[in-house]
Amino acid sequence: MIAIGSDHGGFGLKQEIIAYLKDKGLEYKDYGTYTEESCDYPVYAGKVARAILSGECDRGILICGTGIGISIAANKFKGIRAAVCHDCFSAQATREHNDANILAMGARVVGPGLAVKITDTFLNTEFSNDERHINRIRQIEG
Ligand code: RB5
Repeated sequence: MIAIGSDHGGFGLKQEIIAYLKDKGLEYKDYGTYTEESCDYPVYAGKVARAILSGECDRGILICGTGIGISIAANKFKGIRAAVCHDCFSAQATREHNDANILAMGARVVGPGLAVKITDTFLNTEFSNDERHINRIRQIEG
């Protein structure tokens, strides 16, 4: 199950990503926001982070204007590794090296076509399970 959330700045792109998830037959839960009315990105970062930490969802996608605020907020939750990616190389690397459990994107940074490809790469790349990377992730978690 994929958790997805955004603030007002990411709302439009969230709908595009949801269309992609539906098209691929992937199960998802939309944690809002549900309109373009101004709202606070930490609220949606928290909803998606908690969904992952509770085990209700396996991966998350968070979108705001830049991807930055919402990823900073999500990374305050212990066990969350949210990565801002605006290219496919980073999306692949953060899965393989960091075992990132949330992809963050900025709707004011990338267009929907690239955002879908980044999402596809993120969801279809497994963690390397390399001992070096496992050890580094352990150090992050403290
Ligand atoms: C909202 O205007 C904007 O600040 C937010 O979407 C995001 O870009 C914050 O990092």
